[in-house]
Amino acid sequence: MESSVVSEIRRNGDITLGQLRQLLASDDEALVKNLFEQAREVADGIYGKRVFIRGLIEISSHCKNDCLYCGLRRSQKGAVRYRLTDEQILDCCEKGYRLGFRTFVMQGGEDAWFDDERMVRIVSEVRHRYPDCAITLSLGERSDESYQRLFDAGANRYLLRHETADKEHYEKLHPSDMSFDNRMHCLETLKTIGYQVGCGFMVGSPFQTVETIFKDLQFIRTFKPHMVGIGPFIPAHDTPFADQPQGSVETTLRLLSIIRLIHPHVLLPATTALGTLHPLGRERGIMAGANVVMPNLSPTEHRKDYAIYDNKICTGDEAAECRNCTEYRMRAIGYETVVDRGDYRS
Ligand code: 5AD
Ligand code: FES
Repeated sequence: MESSVVSEIRRNGDITLGQLRQLLASDDEALVKNLFEQAREVADGIYGKRVFIRGLIEISSHCKNDCLYCGLRRSQKGAVRYRLTDEQILDCCEKGYRLGFRTFVMQGGEDAWFDDERMVRIVSEVRHRYPDCAITLSLGERSDESYQRLFDAGANRYLLRHETADKEHYEKLHPSDMSFDNRMHCLETLKTIGYQVGCGFMVGSPFQTVETIFKDLQFIRTFKPHMVGIGPFIPAHDTPFADQPQGSVETTLRLLSIIRLIHPHVLLPATTALGTLHPLGRERGIMAGANVVMPNLSPTEHRKDYAIYDNKICTGDEAAECRNCTEYRMRAIGYETVVDRGDYRS
């Protein structure tokens, strides 16, 4: 059964607040099933039965920021802090390349150790060694000049979740030394420079409402990011939000589908957070319209210390195990992981 509300969203490439409310609150199983199916159909139409893989390298667990939700915030006294050396990062890429990854994502907290000089050196070396690979950075807010220098050194993509498109909500999730306006400025700058840009938000973060989610969706429609990362909020122990309820897997899946319908070409990961809250979370994400997975390539000895939230999966696995596991999981639902940069298709 085709649901008229889902077909209308798909046809319009847009959603109203009323439709969003309806889809998020619905207990009509046929409607939700149709939402997932239509989103999957749209993704299949553009990307086929293929899932792109990105090798995630978590380069630093140090962070100067104090985001209230994050287990790596600077006030987190119990957090174990580590930094990868240039050599360790290059080793991860080498391993990753042999495993078939053609995108490397270097992600870390906002850590002044990884200043422009160091990052330019690393990016240039990876660019030189792997001319056929995409380099994605996810290092938080930096200066316009820094973004430009890293782009010139060979980085292609940048992930910076906007976290929420509602300024008041943003201010409830972050301390006063962080600014919504600067976050938005960074995203605009990245796009202007020529990066493929990813934004995103947590589902079920404290103080989130249907209205703030609606703003997130409107932001996605107007900003037109190449990628959107969403995953459920998962409380991290000892943070101010440690006792807040976790986000819902079900709501995350519905939002993945909605994002696919209103921004059809987007690169949409089925995130680790989704896999953390449900054993088949990532598979269900793909079936709801996601088309990217990001297996971990970080050195096993440091994985458990990149503890953004509690109970994160894959902390004991080797890179090859995550690669194989991902391939197996995708095959099981009828999808192939591909050896490909996996660029945005416009
Ligand atoms: N639960 C889920 N996601 C989180 N992030 C940070 N803390 C949490 C948490 N407790 C997300 C944020 C950030 C990204 C790196 O991880 O959206 O941008
Ligand atoms: Fe890491 Fe399955 S993806 S073990």
